[in-house]
Amino acid sequence: MKNKIALTGIKPTGLPHIGNYFGAIKPAIELTQKYDARYFIADYHALNSIRDPKKIKEMTYEVAASWLACGLDPQKALVYRQSQVPQTFDLTSILMAFTPKGLMNRAHAYKAKLAKNSELNRDPDDGVNMGLFSYPVLMAADILLFDSDVVPVGQDQKQHLEMTIDIAQSINHIYNKELLKIPEPIIHKTTQTVSGLDGRKMSKSYDNTIPLFLKPKKLKKLIMKIVTNSQTIEEPKDPDTCNVFALYKLFTNHAEQEEMKKKYRAGGLGWGHAKTALFEKMNEKLAPFRENYSKIITDKEYIDKILDEGSKKAREIASKKMKMLKQNIGVGF
Ligand code: TRP
Repeated sequence: MKNKIALTGIKPTGLPHIGNYFGAIKPAIELTQKYDARYFIADYHALNSIRDPKKIKEMTYEVAASWLACGLDPQKALVYRQSQVPQTFDLTSILMAFTPKGLMNRAHAYKAKLAKNSELNRDPDDGVNMGLFSYPVLMAADILLFDSDVVPVGQDQKQHLEMTIDIAQSINHIYNKELLKIPEPIIHKTTQTVSGLDGRKMSKSYDNTIPLFLKPKKLKKLIMKIVTNSQTIEEPKDPDTCNVFALYKLFTNHAEQEEMKKKYRAGGLGWGHAKTALFEKMNEKLAPFRENYSKIITDKEYIDKILDEGSKKAREIASKKMKMLKQNIGVGF
């Protein structure tokens, strides 16, 4: 029997941090064991905001190299560039005809932009391009083109998935046929939310991230900056409310965690000790990723080969889907 399909898009927005790894990269890589995975770089989505050709190109390589370095196996997942699958834009045009403008008016990212403009007393349309406005339609096309069964995404993308489902259901209803597969979101759980240096969710917008491929020296320096309380070395400490321990848990097994908990509770463990212990475990786990990354990123030809081959296969699948769809709606015959 044919495997179910897992698909996700990765916007090229810079090098990943630890929160991206545990929240998105790792779970998506795990899905490749059970699903036919299709993971692509959403470069047309990035085009709405990145207008420097060098930057968008470099970020595409960075994001591809990052996922490969973390263990994404191109034999197990189709890895491609959105821009190299033109059927995506063909489908976008079709979906546009069925997407109510009112639905797009409700999209969070667009609404946030409107709110910001209003706050700054600007014209509501200031800085709003059609790419931003119709962002959810392009995303729906990415998903529906490949008959995706599941779409692993962060909480912030949930609304986009709901819109995708809305659009697909309305088309299926109009033609009275299951022309488009209704996808199911897999939303990364809050338990996978990684806390940042200041204890808030790790996020670029909070400037509290730990980049995944940081060299040991810099990594240690950053870990030393993790916010703790002002307890003295002697005082017993509570691991469950500690930012250092929250990160320690991500890089250790159960036995190691229990041992560390004991040390916290016994007193005599200073924050410097706890941070050094975290650094050692983290560095041990991240070293292979870092090494893979530095090898892969210098071999652009290798990355191009993977993306080009993936894109070719993706185009083959996509063109079959478009043929079927177009026949059914009476265009492009
Ligand atoms: N919008 C997603 C993000 O910003 C990226 C994305 C584009 C995507 N197309 C997709 C995710 C299709 C899932 C499925 O993270």
